[in-house]
Amino acid sequence: MDERDLDPDPIRALASWLEDARASVPQADAMALATATPDGGPSVRIVLLRGLDERGLAFFTSRSSRKGAELGANPSAALCLHWWELGRQVRVEGRVEELGVTESAAYWAARPRPSRIAAWASRQSEPLGSRDELTAAVARAEERFADADVPLPPFWGGYLVRPEWIEFWTHRDDRLHDRIRYSRTPSGWVRERLGP
Ligand SMILES: Cc1cc2nc3c(=O)[nH]c(=O)nc-3n(C[C@H](O)[C@H](O)[C@H](O)COP(=O)(O)O)c2cc1C
Repeated sequence: MDERDLDPDPIRALASWLEDARASVPQADAMALATATPDGGPSVRIVLLRGLDERGLAFFTSRSSRKGAELGANPSAALCLHWWELGRQVRVEGRVEELGVTESAAYWAARPRPSRIAAWASRQSEPLGSRDELTAAVARAEERFADADVPLPPFWGGYLVRPEWIEFWTHRDDRLHDRIRYSRTPSGWVRERLGP
């Protein structure tokens, strides 16, 4: 990979790689999201990339989940997208902000009804006595919203990761992979090549 093949704006470069991935890779939007407690205890899980614009990368989840609690106390995150078929990886690090109700509601409205019922029924990341307990909670949520639209729960919404660093990696069979890292500076994005 040549630096000149990547857009000087890393968000545009990522948008272009995503387009390639969506055309050829299943679940191209899946990304590992790492968060940490204030004293540095890390945790990681997959979430779906659900928005990309000049501000950064957006995903949606329960704010009362483990990741939500960690982001509330320590609003920093790292993301990693990997597309095996393309031999490409992208890593992102940055500060995290909650998306407002308007953006969260817009995404919520586009979710299928069963997903919206599931969000109301599940206390994400909390211990559950049994599968039956969850099934009963789903039935209660279905009854509660039987004749109505399923509203945005107050405990659910979007987060925006505002990148400080974005790294683009491409595989090479000789293991001398290419790594181009963009760092945000007061005067704009700076690009450097990193050792593989
Ligand atoms: C392919 C895939 C996509 C997922 N997308 C999301 C998502 O967009 N939002 C979400 O809250 N959980 C998503 N999950 C579930 C999370 O990985 C995780 O189990 C859940 O959010 C609880 O994480 P936590 O307890 O660390 O907060 C996804 C899992 C997989 C495997």
